Amino acid sequence: MDLSEQINASFVKLFGGEPSVIARAPGRVNLIGEHTDYNDGFVLPMAIDRAIWVAARPRGDRLVHVHSIDFDSQDTFSLDRLDRGHGWSEYLKGVAYVLGSDGRPLSGWDGVMLGDVPRGSGLSSSAALELAAARIFASLSHLEWNAAYMARVGQRAENEWVGVNCGIMDQMASAACQEGHALFLDCRSLDMEQVPLPGHVAIVVMDTSTRRGLVDSAYNERRSQCEQAARFFGVKALRDVSWTQFEKGKSGLEDVVMRRARHIITENQRVLDAVQAMRMDDVVRLGKLLNASHASLRDDFEVTNEALNQIVEAAQLQPACYGARMTGGGFGGCAVALVDAGKIQTFVDEVQEAYHRKSGLEPQIYVCKAEAGASEVYNSDTMGSHRKIKVES
Ligand code: GLA
Repeated sequence: MDLSEQINASFVKLFGGEPSVIARAPGRVNLIGEHTDYNDGFVLPMAIDRAIWVAARPRGDRLVHVHSIDFDSQDTFSLDRLDRGHGWSEYLKGVAYVLGSDGRPLSGWDGVMLGDVPRGSGLSSSAALELAAARIFASLSHLEWNAAYMARVGQRAENEWVGVNCGIMDQMASAACQEGHALFLDCRSLDMEQVPLPGHVAIVVMDTSTRRGLVDSAYNERRSQCEQAARFFGVKALRDVSWTQFEKGKSGLEDVVMRRARHIITENQRVLDAVQAMRMDDVVRLGKLLNASHASLRDDFEVTNEALNQIVEAAQLQPACYGARMTGGGFGGCAVALVDAGKIQTFVDEVQEAYHRKSGLEPQIYVCKAEAGASEVYNSDTMGSHRKIKVES
């Protein structure tokens, strides 16, 4: 049974009838452009073939009642009185809170959710959950789906309700990616371009099996160091500092702040170069950019851990590998590699073995397909008789 059949069956079992909507929203892997999103910079993520699924049916009142199969628990909350609590349902409440404070009229629903995005591994399971919830609220409350607006809703849910100060990349990837493409996103204007992935390479995700733990403070520290550097250069964000300006002014910065800024400025350029390389089908160049990104995240931005460095080194040593780097926030979780599509099995076996030998850990390594962003998979209301409410971006 695939996840869509499984969620339908779970809904029928729990609620004794068919769901009226089934939606899914994917996790993401970022190919390049790390920690650049909150510096108004560039990113290049793709949505992966792992997602959060929600099946739902409207209720006659303003309650939201959801079962999580993965957490084996349920929660009910009222849209009229949202209270902060703990756990997975905070993401749903956060989405309801933001849509509500934007004046969107919402209806209550019964639902079931499940997913196969590994949690805490840097593949954005929380953004997937936010966008799946947004998709359900949009379907059942007849809001028009605007990917960029809904991504902002997900990010605000995280910032304003959950209390995590993330940027916009994960939610935009989960909302707006297209199958077979990476999303080249300008995080300031939210302009985007779908860039086709090269055909003869595979995107391989390598989960170190180490988890991020308590990293919010380290993430926030990086953010404030970047802001400090931007203030020093007299600009809104590090996106606005050119390499020449940086070289001229860098001696006035404290060493650690100088290195944080150097990562952001060079990483933004690497994203632009990576997009260029992809357009020209130059996977060798693309791979080199991935390697350079990892070195910069390790030495200048200091967000890798030993496990990430070990798995990336093991991957980079493989002849089939064009390049590899950590992906996501860092401090544990996953790395990504660009691998010759004809030599995947050898690559996986060798990296598995080398990483295990060095770290004593069992990695999870899998080839990812670039999937479409959040979608409604099924809607019983196929007649389109409902009024659609325009949602501005
Ligand atoms: C986390 C955040 C993103 C982004 C990345 C680092 O995934 O949620 O907004 O900052 O880290 O690139």
